[in-house]
Amino acid sequence: MIVNPLSSQYLGFSIASPIVVAACPLSAKIENIEAMQEAGAGAVVLFSLFEESHINNGEPDSQYRVDRDSYLRLVEQASDLNIPIIASLNGTNLDHLSQMTMAVMEAGAHAVEYNPYHLPINLMRSGRDIEDELVEIATEMRAICQRPMAMKLMPTLSSPGYLAMVLDSTGIDGLVMFNRLYLPQVDTDGMELSRHVHLSHKEDSAWGIHWASLLHGKMNGSIIGNSGVEHAEQVLQYLLSGANAVQVASCLIRNGIDYITTLNRGLKDWMEHHECEDIPSLIGLLSEQRQADSTAHDRVQYMKSLHNFHSPYFK
Ligand SMILES: Cc1cc2nc3c(=O)[nH]c(=O)nc-3n(C[C@H](O)[C@H](O)[C@H](O)COP(=O)(O)O)c2cc1C
Repeated sequence: MIVNPLSSQYLGFSIASPIVVAACPLSAKIENIEAMQEAGAGAVVLFSLFEESHINNGEPDSQYRVDRDSYLRLVEQASDLNIPIIASLNGTNLDHLSQMTMAVMEAGAHAVEYNPYHLPINLMRSGRDIEDELVEIATEMRAICQRPMAMKLMPTLSSPGYLAMVLDSTGIDGLVMFNRLYLPQVDTDGMELSRHVHLSHKEDSAWGIHWASLLHGKMNGSIIGNSGVEHAEQVLQYLLSGANAVQVASCLIRNGIDYITTLNRGLKDWMEHHECEDIPSLIGLLSEQRQADSTAHDRVQYMKSLHNFHSPYFK
């Protein structure tokens, strides 16, 4: 029997690789989803169905990528493939999210990822208000969603670790850490604020890796690393720190869907070189939990890194 060394677990599913396609427009076509399966993706998170599209079914405002019915048709088609298909629901209104959850489950989604994307721009909302809203969404959706479910978090939380523990206690199956911030940019030529999506680079993985490391071994649900995977090295850094799987978008948009094969090959090569037999045995090997006294260790490392930084102008 041939054993696949990359086989892993994701939200309770056995998957062929810990590399999962993150929500992005690459999943808008069924042929692309087939290509993701072919290239060895562990699972696919479809691009988001926005609550705005759900309410007006894409009409009269056409700024949303697809209308609700087309999205549900795609879920239906994709769920016939052999990898887990995860519907992504973007919004915060509990009624809308409930209806959307029922609809994607009926269409055959194997799991649901909730993305309550919000920028903390209301000056009168406290961190506690924002966190309470996320916990309410997780609790309510857990009661409705009869499939595995994950929640995608923003990186701007005041205490991601505490919130992760509270969200985990609602019984959800995983946390995606973290979404990317899309902030407006000041266009000094056009004299306006503009919003552009920028693809990520490996430096963008540091925050997610840090929290995977701190949360490893503390949660019942999965930790899903997201942001900044450019090469197999970042996948390994997430896994060694404690993530159970990793989602990727930018590197596939930049290099094509077949880049999943390159990432998987990179993982396999590293495992062979380090005589590592399977993915579960490497998860969390370098997590913060394994450090003797992590708080003191962190502070010493912090002081050392400032002290050891050099520049010719420091003379
Ligand atoms: C063009 C583009 C479209 C995206 N659309 C969605 C979306 O519909 N829903 C969502 O939850 N995330 C969306 N994302 C965010 C990605 O799922 C992912 O969280 C983010 O890009 C970080 O991963 P990366 O560093 O591998 O790109 C999008 C990202 C890009 C680049």
